[in-house]
Amino acid sequence: MGVVITFGTFDVFHVGHLRILKRARRLGGRLVVGVSTDELNFEKKGRLPVYTQSERLEIVSSLKCVDEVFSEESLDAKLMYIKKYKAEILLMGSDWGGKFDHLCGVCKVVYLERTPAISTTEVIEKIRL
Ligand code: CTP
Repeated sequence: MGVVITFGTFDVFHVGHLRILKRARRLGGRLVVGVSTDELNFEKKGRLPVYTQSERLEIVSSLKCVDEVFSEESLDAKLMYIKKYKAEILLMGSDWGGKFDHLCGVCKVVYLERTPAISTTEVIEKIRL
């Protein structure tokens, strides 16, 4: 079984994050995770993460289901990362459904359903109330 690669911010780590990483690991022999830099998250979501990049990398790299982590610097560099880590499967959450189909010739592209009713944004909102 080959390498699975996936990406995300994984800020205020929650069970939706854990479940997708566990399912991703089951698809291959190794799981490599690109964790968005603080800067990339700002570009993507218009706010800085609550946890810093190095804290998020430390959390994700400590999980039993994760074999390797790296900082994802650019959303448009998926092809470069797939080649660098020799990934056979690109795994994305259903929130990205269809967006990476152009990479189908390079590796298998799989979208998994998100865990319903939880997201970092919702957790932050709930704590704020
Ligand atoms: N994810 C999931 N189920 C959830 C939330 C996230 O499967 N309920 C997955 C996403 O599809 C992605 C990964 O976890 O593959 C990292 O998502 P991320 O954007 O970091 O987390 P969100 O909780 O979606 O963050 P936000 O609310 O800031 O968008």
